[in-house]
Amino acid sequence: MSTPEPTGIVVLISGSGTNLQALIDASSDPAYGVRILAVGADRDGIAGLRRADAAGLETFVCRVPDHPTRLAWDAALAARLDAHAPAFVVSAGFMRLLGPEVLSRYVVLNTHPALLPAFPGAHAVRDALAAAAEVTGCTVHLVDAGLDTGPVLAQARVEVVPGDTEETLHARIKAVEHPLLVEVVGRAAREGITVTDGKASIP
Ligand code: GRF
Repeated sequence: MSTPEPTGIVVLISGSGTNLQALIDASSDPAYGVRILAVGADRDGIAGLRRADAAGLETFVCRVPDHPTRLAWDAALAARLDAHAPAFVVSAGFMRLLGPEVLSRYVVLNTHPALLPAFPGAHAVRDALAAAAEVTGCTVHLVDAGLDTGPVLAQARVEVVPGDTEETLHARIKAVEHPLLVEVVGRAAREGITVTDGKASIP
């Protein structure tokens, strides 16, 4: 039986790109069913872009300060995505709220380092520690116009242990976040995503 054509995705990043790396590694197996068409970033000089270069992937940078308004940036980012025509987009540590042009054209999956709806926002790990949470984790969800409010696809729990710092806890979260993201993106690529009454699922 021949392997079906892989599903093309674009991955958006802002930082170290360890989640991107997990997707790059998984994509090297044709059975995974995903081809990363390009990696986009909102800033230059980040380790994640070097990971993309090392993997021979096309990259682009679309910076908010290079555009007169957020809406103009959103339209420019949508145009960069259009150039690759991905089946869906993965926000893997992309630290910008996506706007209406991108979200009206693309299904976007995001990975977040907390058990949403707990601890949305840019400092989820720090916020979980500050709240003395005993358990936190990570969430892969669909992006909507809100801040980490879209339908949840999958979650994984991580215990907070005495003496945890933001760094140690985030490292343990990433250890479960990477395989969770790889699993959900692969299933979404191979089987698709449905949303019914605000609940997202993969068949
Ligand atoms: C991840 O934990 C992601 O959930 C959060 O930022 C981190 C990005 O890490 N939004 P990396 O760039 O994939 O290493």
